[in-house]
Amino acid sequence: MLENKQNRLSEAQVEAFFNTEFEQDQISDFESLFEDKKFDSNDVIVDVGGGVGRFAKLLTERRENSVRVLDIDENSISSLKNVGAHNIEALVADALNPPMFGDEKVVTINLILHHLVGQSEEVTRELQKSALKVWRGKTDFIFINEYIYESFIGNLSGRLIYYITSSAALSLVGSFVSKFVPSLRANTFGVGVRFRSHSEWLELFEQCGFRVTDCRYGESEFISLPRRILFISGIKRNSYLLRAFDD
Ligand SMILES: C[S@@+](CC[C@H](N)C(=O)[O-])C[C@H]1O[C@@H](n2cnc3c(N)ncnc32)[C@H](O)[C@@H]1O
Repeated sequence: MLENKQNRLSEAQVEAFFNTEFEQDQISDFESLFEDKKFDSNDVIVDVGGGVGRFAKLLTERRENSVRVLDIDENSISSLKNVGAHNIEALVADALNPPMFGDEKVVTINLILHHLVGQSEEVTRELQKSALKVWRGKTDFIFINEYIYESFIGNLSGRLIYYITSSAALSLVGSFVSKFVPSLRANTFGVGVRFRSHSEWLELFEQCGFRVTDCRYGESEFISLPRRILFISGIKRNSYLLRAFDD
């Protein structure tokens, strides 16, 4: 029987993520989706997979609420603790079994779901669902910022990328090819990454008992010719606002 265990990234692979400015898009989507929502001063925002706290910092600059950053990567959490940022609490924690204190108003899950990958497509799906289901009845809102990969052929591209990046042999070929074709570079070779299309994510959210009440569509990213070999027709980062069906 396959174990529901996540394939984990190395420290160097995690560090490579913090070279972007994606938190700027995340905060503007967050502010626009929460524009009409009321917060009490003691409501906590939990940022799951919040890394070194860049999104959390932008949140605390705009709101009085404190932000609890959870991440499985000890280096990221200790560097965040060392900064001693105002109103930010940092805890080493697994998104699949997060600590809960009863004060969680909003849970944000930014660019982490696609990293919850396991030994098979089924295990991967269960891991991604677990990270959402664990919050049922525990928070008012879930904000998700996630990569969207659309394909010329059904939902094939996300599947192909998972297949290549999670297979040891194919990853070796992929890493070699990416030396000459930098646009194929993926720092997840050997571990795996599972992107999905917009409709696939919506279906997964629904299966976890959440409905999307609002959404912000990101800008389309450039798709190089070699990437088109993977039948990718579109790449963007979207943000979703989720509520439980019975709320
Ligand atoms: C691509 S980075 C995203 C960081 C940040 N949220 C952002 O949007 O820029 C993925 C983050 O998820 C964290 N992560 C991966 N698996 C995790 C898990 N099971 N529990 C908690 N954090 C996890 C990684 O350590 C990393 O910080």
